[in-house]
Amino acid sequence: MGSGQQTFVTAFIVVSALAVLAVFPGVHGEDRVVPPSSLAPVSFVMPEETTPPELADEGAELVVSTCSACHSLEYITTQPRGMGEKFWHDSVGKMVKVYGAPIEPADAQAISDILADRFG
Ligand code: HEC
Repeated sequence: MGSGQQTFVTAFIVVSALAVLAVFPGVHGEDRVVPPSSLAPVSFVMPEETTPPELADEGAELVVSTCSACHSLEYITTQPRGMGEKFWHDSVGKMVKVYGAPIEPADAQAISDILADRFG
Protein backbone atom coordinates (compact mmCIF):
# COMPACT_ATOMS: atom_id res chain seq x y z
CA MET A 1 0.00 0.00 0.00
CA GLY A 2 1.50 3.37 -0.97
CA SER A 3 1.60 6.27 1.48
CA GLY A 4 -1.18 8.05 -0.42
CA GLN A 5 -3.50 5.12 0.22
CA GLN A 6 -2.44 4.97 3.88
CA THR A 7 -3.31 8.65 4.36
CA PHE A 8 -6.69 7.95 2.80
CA VAL A 9 -7.32 4.96 5.09
CA THR A 10 -6.28 6.96 8.18
CA ALA A 11 -8.52 9.86 7.18
CA PHE A 12 -11.38 7.41 6.65
CA ILE A 13 -10.96 5.95 10.13
CA VAL A 14 -10.85 9.42 11.75
CA VAL A 15 -13.94 10.58 9.88
CA SER A 16 -15.80 7.38 10.80
CA ALA A 17 -14.90 7.78 14.47
CA LEU A 18 -16.14 11.39 14.46
CA ALA A 19 -19.36 10.30 12.79
CA VAL A 20 -19.95 7.65 15.46
CA LEU A 21 -19.34 10.21 18.23
CA ALA A 22 -21.70 12.66 16.57
CA VAL A 23 -24.46 10.07 16.34
CA PHE A 24 -23.97 8.82 19.90
CA PRO A 25 -23.29 11.93 22.01
CA GLY A 26 -23.47 9.83 25.16
CA VAL A 27 -20.22 8.13 24.20
CA HIS A 28 -18.15 11.23 24.98
CA GLY A 29 -20.56 13.42 26.99
CA GLU A 30 -20.17 12.48 30.68
CA ASP A 31 -22.48 15.38 31.54
CA ARG A 32 -25.39 13.56 29.89
CA VAL A 33 -25.32 10.68 32.33
CA VAL A 34 -28.47 10.79 34.48
CA PRO A 35 -27.66 10.77 38.20
CA PRO A 36 -29.27 7.74 39.90
CA SER A 37 -31.19 9.86 42.43
CA SER A 38 -33.44 11.25 39.69
CA LEU A 39 -34.50 7.71 38.76
CA ALA A 40 -36.16 7.11 42.14
CA PRO A 41 -39.91 6.43 41.93
CA VAL A 42 -42.09 9.47 42.55
CA SER A 43 -45.51 9.15 44.16
CA PHE A 44 -48.21 11.75 43.90
CA VAL A 45 -51.91 12.01 44.56
CA MET A 46 -54.18 12.86 41.67
CA PRO A 47 -57.02 15.24 42.52
CA GLU A 48 -60.21 13.24 43.04
CA GLU A 49 -62.57 13.44 40.09
CA THR A 50 -66.00 14.49 41.27
CA THR A 51 -69.09 14.78 39.10
CA PRO A 52 -70.02 18.43 38.65
CA PRO A 53 -73.38 19.29 40.32
CA GLU A 54 -75.00 20.12 36.96
CA LEU A 55 -74.42 16.52 35.85
CA ALA A 56 -74.78 14.68 39.14
CA ASP A 57 -78.33 13.31 38.66
CA GLU A 58 -79.65 10.26 36.76
CA GLY A 59 -80.83 12.35 33.82
CA ALA A 60 -77.22 13.19 32.96
CA GLU A 61 -75.85 9.66 33.35
CA LEU A 62 -75.36 9.26 29.59
CA VAL A 63 -73.24 12.42 29.54
CA VAL A 64 -71.16 11.37 32.54
CA SER A 65 -70.46 7.85 31.28
CA THR A 66 -69.79 8.91 27.68
CA CYS A 67 -67.94 12.15 28.12
CA SER A 68 -65.65 11.25 31.01
CA ALA A 69 -64.00 8.42 29.06
CA CYS A 70 -61.17 10.63 27.76
CA HIS A 71 -61.12 13.76 29.89
CA SER A 72 -62.51 15.50 32.92
CA LEU A 73 -66.13 16.65 32.85
CA GLU A 74 -64.71 20.08 33.62
CA TYR A 75 -64.10 20.36 29.89
CA ILE A 76 -67.87 20.68 29.68
CA THR A 77 -68.57 22.84 32.73
CA THR A 78 -65.87 25.40 31.87
CA GLN A 79 -67.47 26.20 28.52
CA PRO A 80 -69.31 29.53 28.27
CA ARG A 81 -73.01 29.46 29.14
CA GLY A 82 -75.89 30.28 26.84
CA MET A 83 -74.25 29.09 23.62
CA GLY A 84 -77.33 27.16 22.46
CA GLU A 85 -78.12 23.64 21.24
CA LYS A 86 -76.06 23.96 18.05
CA PHE A 87 -72.90 24.70 20.05
CA TRP A 88 -73.33 21.51 22.08
CA HIS A 89 -74.29 19.50 19.03
CA ASP A 90 -71.13 20.72 17.27
CA SER A 91 -68.98 20.04 20.37
CA VAL A 92 -70.17 16.44 20.57
CA GLY A 93 -69.73 16.11 16.79
CA LYS A 94 -66.13 17.33 17.15
CA MET A 95 -65.43 14.66 19.79
CA VAL A 96 -66.64 12.03 17.32
CA LYS A 97 -65.10 13.37 14.10
CA VAL A 98 -61.85 14.87 15.34
CA TYR A 99 -61.04 12.80 18.40
CA GLY A 100 -62.71 9.53 17.41
CA ALA A 101 -65.14 9.24 20.33
CA PRO A 102 -67.27 6.11 19.78
CA ILE A 103 -70.70 7.74 20.16
CA GLU A 104 -73.79 6.57 18.23
CA PRO A 105 -75.69 9.37 16.41
CA ALA A 106 -78.78 8.83 18.61
CA ASP A 107 -76.66 9.13 21.77
CA ALA A 108 -74.90 12.20 20.36
CA GLN A 109 -78.29 13.85 19.88
CA ALA A 110 -79.48 12.87 23.36
CA ILE A 111 -76.23 14.17 24.92
CA SER A 112 -76.47 17.47 23.01
CA ASP A 113 -80.04 17.90 24.24
CA ILE A 114 -79.03 17.28 27.86
CA LEU A 115 -76.07 19.67 27.62
CA ALA A 116 -78.16 22.40 25.97
CA ASP A 117 -80.75 21.92 28.70
CA ARG A 118 -78.21 22.10 31.55
CA PHE A 119 -75.78 24.70 30.20
CA GLY A 120 -77.86 26.73 27.72
C1 HEC B 1 -62.34 9.82 22.45
C2 HEC B 1 -62.00 10.70 23.53
C3 HEC B 1 -63.02 11.77 23.89
C4 HEC B 1 -64.31 11.58 24.32
C5 HEC B 1 -65.08 10.27 24.54
C6 HEC B 1 -64.85 12.91 24.56
N1 HEC B 1 -63.88 13.86 24.31
FE1 HEC B 1 -64.06 15.86 24.57
N2 HEC B 1 -62.14 16.13 24.05
C7 HEC B 1 -61.28 15.13 23.65
C8 HEC B 1 -60.00 15.71 23.35
C9 HEC B 1 -58.76 14.95 22.85
C10 HEC B 1 -60.12 17.08 23.59
C11 HEC B 1 -59.06 18.15 23.43
C12 HEC B 1 -58.21 18.11 24.65
C13 HEC B 1 -57.29 19.27 24.73
O1 HEC B 1 -57.26 20.11 23.81
O2 HEC B 1 -56.61 19.36 25.76
C14 HEC B 1 -61.48 17.31 24.05
C15 HEC B 1 -61.97 18.55 24.43
C16 HEC B 1 -63.28 18.81 24.77
C17 HEC B 1 -63.83 20.12 25.05
C18 HEC B 1 -63.04 21.42 25.09
C19 HEC B 1 -63.27 22.25 23.89
C20 HEC B 1 -62.73 21.65 22.64
O3 HEC B 1 -63.51 21.57 21.67
O4 HEC B 1 -61.55 21.24 22.58
C21 HEC B 1 -65.16 19.95 25.29
C22 HEC B 1 -66.21 21.02 25.59
C23 HEC B 1 -65.42 18.53 25.21
N3 HEC B 1 -64.26 17.87 24.89
C24 HEC B 1 -66.67 17.98 25.38
C25 HEC B 1 -66.92 16.61 25.33
C26 HEC B 1 -68.25 16.04 25.49
C27 HEC B 1 -69.53 16.82 25.72
C28 HEC B 1 -68.09 14.68 25.38
C29 HEC B 1 -69.18 13.62 25.47
C30 HEC B 1 -70.10 13.63 24.35
C31 HEC B 1 -66.69 14.41 25.13
N4 HEC B 1 -66.01 15.61 25.11
C32 HEC B 1 -66.14 13.16 24.98
C33 HEC B 1 -61.56 13.79 23.57
C34 HEC B 1 -62.76 13.20 23.90
